[in-house]
Amino acid sequence: MRKPIIKTLLAGATLALLSGMAHAETVIKFSHVVAENTPKGQGALLFKKLAEERLPGKVKVEVYSNSQLFGDGKEMEALLLGDVQLIAPSLSKFDRYTNQIQVFDLPFLFKDITAIHRFQQSATGQSILKSMTKKGLIGLGYWDNGMKQFSAKKPLRMPEDAKGLKFRIQASDILEAQFKAVGAVPQKLAFSEVYSALETGVVDGAENPWSNAYSQKFFEVQPYFTESNHGYLGYMVVANAKFWEDLPADVRSVLEKTLAEVTAQVNTQATAFSDGDRKKIKESGKTEILQLTPEQRTAWQTAMKPVIEQFTPKIGKEIVDAALAANKP
Ligand code: LMR
Repeated sequence: MRKPIIKTLLAGATLALLSGMAHAETVIKFSHVVAENTPKGQGALLFKKLAEERLPGKVKVEVYSNSQLFGDGKEMEALLLGDVQLIAPSLSKFDRYTNQIQVFDLPFLFKDITAIHRFQQSATGQSILKSMTKKGLIGLGYWDNGMKQFSAKKPLRMPEDAKGLKFRIQASDILEAQFKAVGAVPQKLAFSEVYSALETGVVDGAENPWSNAYSQKFFEVQPYFTESNHGYLGYMVVANAKFWEDLPADVRSVLEKTLAEVTAQVNTQATAFSDGDRKKIKESGKTEILQLTPEQRTAWQTAMKPVIEQFTPKIGKEIVDAALAANKP
């Protein structure tokens, strides 16, 4: 008599467990390294709001900003291990996973953000999103931050002014070559270490879009900025490919639609963020923003051009050509 009772109890418990699992809430941890008052910070929060409104009880999004969960040395590894489910690293931080994406780091390649959007939306740009699936990463969209500006402890007007100065760079070989091309000394450092490296003189300069320079207070420890717009800082929102593919189809489809809307919103607001933060930096009176004459800009462009030639074979000529083609409307 006892055995059937135990069997029934066990069967009941299994059923309860299974039905509980069927209704379990999917937790999506979205980790990033910047402040909340930036294009990426706002994008992550908007994604959380919309996803939870649209999938109540099915999806919960936890956003961790400012490297509080994982800094940029660790976030990719954490995604692959399933410790977080979504991240949006800068395009410069993927070079261990795909060579093609390095096209975004080439200095003075794109005319402006509109050209970058044209390239991202082209067949080539979209194929880069899917270029890392075999390595376990799936790209879900491109988010802008903005164009990068040089900053340093001394005024940078001509490439020679950078000679011998130490510049913090993201972990990208192209950015390393870019600074070496002007005789400077690049140093790869995690984003969370930049303020203190600038403050203590571990490095003399950096390159950042206005929103990072403002939200991390870099302008307080860099007396000069040069409005160089020499390169792009944008992000790829990526998920662990297996996690994403294993989501129930209806949930995945709502999340993809939501991400597409958030992407459009982030990219519409990023320019306003840049303009607003540039203005706040200027008004702070703590740093000077230098403008380049057309001749000075050409001098930087000429000095850094060999970097494009050096890296084109590695990235793929067809990718670089497609990027250049996007400069023409
Ligand atoms: C940096 O390291 O400078 C940037 O990639 C940080 C970011 O995510 O904008």
